[in-house]
Amino acid sequence: MLDPADEDFARDPYPYYARLRAQGDAVCVTLANGSRAWLVTGYEQTRAVLADPRFSNVPPQGAGRPKADSPAQRARALLARHMLNSDAPDHTRLRKLTTAAFAPRRVDALRPRIEVLVKGLVEEVAGRIERDGSADLVDAFAFPLPVLVIGEVLGVPESDRVALRDWTYRVGSPADALPPGAVDEAWTQLYGYFTELIAAKRRSPGDDLFSVLVHDSAEGGLDDGELLAMAFLLLFAGYETTMNLLASAALLLLSHPQELAAAQADPAARWPAIVEETLRHASPLEGTTWRRTTEDVALSDGTRIPAGASVLAVLAAANRDPAHFPDPDAFRPDRYLPTAEGARPAPHAAFGHGPHFCVGSRLARLEAQIALPLLFTTLPGLRLAADPAGLPYRPGLLVRGPRVLPVA
Ligand code: HEM
Repeated sequence: MLDPADEDFARDPYPYYARLRAQGDAVCVTLANGSRAWLVTGYEQTRAVLADPRFSNVPPQGAGRPKADSPAQRARALLARHMLNSDAPDHTRLRKLTTAAFAPRRVDALRPRIEVLVKGLVEEVAGRIERDGSADLVDAFAFPLPVLVIGEVLGVPESDRVALRDWTYRVGSPADALPPGAVDEAWTQLYGYFTELIAAKRRSPGDDLFSVLVHDSAEGGLDDGELLAMAFLLLFAGYETTMNLLASAALLLLSHPQELAAAQADPAARWPAIVEETLRHASPLEGTTWRRTTEDVALSDGTRIPAGASVLAVLAAANRDPAHFPDPDAFRPDRYLPTAEGARPAPHAAFGHGPHFCVGSRLARLEAQIALPLLFTTLPGLRLAADPAGLPYRPGLLVRGPRVLPVA
């Protein structure tokens, strides 16, 4: 029995995944809600599953989907029609357009704007510490930065950023954490806002990445519903993951001061290595989205997964596979340092693999490689203001990162 909401499991799921990995390529477990799922935890096996078309991304009819009987639920159902929930050929068509919009030169051109946003937030963190004696780095830094950056990607006018941040926060919160209706209201508002945004981009395109998508959508055969779902996917795929990357990296650095000092001494080589090692060691997306077998599948060790089964490729576990990463539980950025011989380090699986490989990987890396050095060079005395062993983590099998990170 696996309870993804269990606090100890959320904080440290790795021993559990190591036990599963020792049992076979995939293990069938019963989840706390009574459903059964196959978990894939080895590095090679995870990549094999993610590249295999017999593992479908299309959610089963009705499963986990809200019934469309209120405006908020209708909004949620429509916004769920995105490419991460689709297979070829639909997926191929949708994906082609995003790859063009996220071309490396377009992503790299965001650097100066990201620097401005990071500087503003670092000031905010410093201000809170001065005023209150401490600040929550998740709330003041790791959460707002990715939302602001997605605002840049989508070309959301600056005057609407506060609202975007508020709706994103609300739809990402558990329903019982906020006053009744607050989450539903945010869904409806996001839906209405993105509908308007698309119309505005059609009338007068900006130089943002989303305007490229809106422009190309006509030729690529995207309908308005698909475009709307795309805006929503970019927001959700891009914010919670990057938030966890930033929060986990800050936590790892604050608890490994020698690595922080080494990065300050050799920034050009060390910061990229820290970002890669954080992606491996603290995979922000714990598991991919659910896959479903379209037929019986036999894995390389002979394990047979029946047709129609729910399957989760656990990236966090793949990234700690000792067959692929020596001393996998240690945080060792030097794994990703360039070597004199030009040897390439073992790639991690944090951005997935196969047709759904992360569209935003370059953007996520860029954000982290700007944000972390600026944070720690502007505030060199930053220290943890809580016991790291007691920090609460996000529940569930999808994303992983500390919920709060008090610093002083
Ligand atoms: C540290 C940050 C991030 C991590 C770890 C991450 C990880 C991933 C992973 C593992 C997948 C594949 C999921 C699956 O196969 O089920 C994925 C897909 C995706 N990611 Fe990211 N992501 C990050 C940031 C971003 C950002 C910043 C964006 C865009 C603004 C983005 C956009 C997407 C999109 C659109 C997909 C769906 C691709 C498809 O279905 O073909 N991600 N991401």
